[in-house]
Amino acid sequence: MLTLRSSGPLRGEITVPGDKSISHRSVMFGALAQGTTYIEGFLDGADCLSTIDCFRRLGAEIILSRDRRSVRVAGRGMRGLCPEGSEVRLYTGNSGTTTRIISGILSPQPFTSILSGDASVNRRPMERIIKPLTAMGARILSLEGNGCAPLKITGSPLHGITWHSPVASAQVKSAILCAGLYADAPSTVIEPALSRDHTERMLRQFGASVSSAPCPGGYAASVLPCEELHACDILIPGDISSAAYFIAASLLLPGSRVLIRNVGINPTRAGILEAVTAMGGRIEYLNRRSEGEPAADLLVTSSSLHGCTIEGAMIPALIDEIPVLAVMAACAEGTTVIKDAAELKVKESDRIATVTENLRAMGADIEPTPDGMIIKGGKPLHGAFIRTYGDHRLAMSFAVAALAAEGETFLDDEACAGVSYPGFFDALKSLSV
Ligand code: S3P
Repeated sequence: MLTLRSSGPLRGEITVPGDKSISHRSVMFGALAQGTTYIEGFLDGADCLSTIDCFRRLGAEIILSRDRRSVRVAGRGMRGLCPEGSEVRLYTGNSGTTTRIISGILSPQPFTSILSGDASVNRRPMERIIKPLTAMGARILSLEGNGCAPLKITGSPLHGITWHSPVASAQVKSAILCAGLYADAPSTVIEPALSRDHTERMLRQFGASVSSAPCPGGYAASVLPCEELHACDILIPGDISSAAYFIAASLLLPGSRVLIRNVGINPTRAGILEAVTAMGGRIEYLNRRSEGEPAADLLVTSSSLHGCTIEGAMIPALIDEIPVLAVMAACAEGTTVIKDAAELKVKESDRIATVTENLRAMGADIEPTPDGMIIKGGKPLHGAFIRTYGDHRLAMSFAVAALAAEGETFLDDEACAGVSYPGFFDALKSLSV
């Protein structure tokens, strides 16, 4: 348990760890490529270490530098994965991203895989990847018969498909695109709104033929079958989802001014910046650049915030930031409405329920809705006992709330922040003046 108290202004500079989504993909595609992939800025959070562990079991040699920020992946080639024995057991820990994307990679392999994660991952819906992959010819069994992991994947030849995904999910899209590399014809995923496009960008860097464009009904991403991927160098910017906690704390604590260096600002991820700007938050973009993925330094100055509406196509670009946005909304003047975000219910925790429970405990006026929440801001927050449900984003969001609240706040489990941000609480402390 961790005790947190209200805080004065935050000042100084910070560099947040590498982007989680990009880190996963760099190891996966590096392992499938021919040649050696060098990765800089890797996130050594528990989720990405799960991905490394899985691909080591599949025969890839993956070496982390001493500071764990650089990774060298000796690729096996697309058809060279070689687990010990004809059946391999893979453990994906808390990582839904690993579980879903690796399923697309395992489906066409000439061996059988048993895939499972921790209690949270094993509760999350896998039908969304089982259905399209099965339509491509994959043989995937939910061992408990509940549409969740553990999954048994028996490798088989795949066909190209066009899949209309009912949800805007980069994990679903990526699983299908990865499987599509091995299919007998092109594959297309149509999603209702554009989800993060790191897979499309990175597969192109590795030499695959991937296209994406708006289309009737949403956004389409297509991949051509591919003989080989080719190793390359990957530079990973800081994770905007991790930067979001410092953005929020700096905006909320009067007198704060914090420079967050090297943050990824890919437009499919940067919805939080749009949302806080709409709420009256002051963020300056400095030193914009684009090496693989766009990045910038963000200078954040405390601001008085007002409520706004967050909905529609904007949701996938900030889905992971909604817990911390809800904290900001509780401290803002006026009402914030978050809708079209039913996906929150199937994240590491049911984030509509867990955010509501904890913000209410701190005195906020928040109503859950079937696809989001309505927050009437401006009631002062007070310290409370926070139940994180092992959800890293809850732990970090409510650490921010604790700094803005009166009195003491107790976090039941601060260690879960290490899933995406080892060292988060020290980093937060380092900015206190
Ligand atoms: C991710 C996609 C999103 C996001 C998750 C990471 C990814 O999930 O919430 O934290 O790296 O592809 P969905 O695909 O379920 O929306």
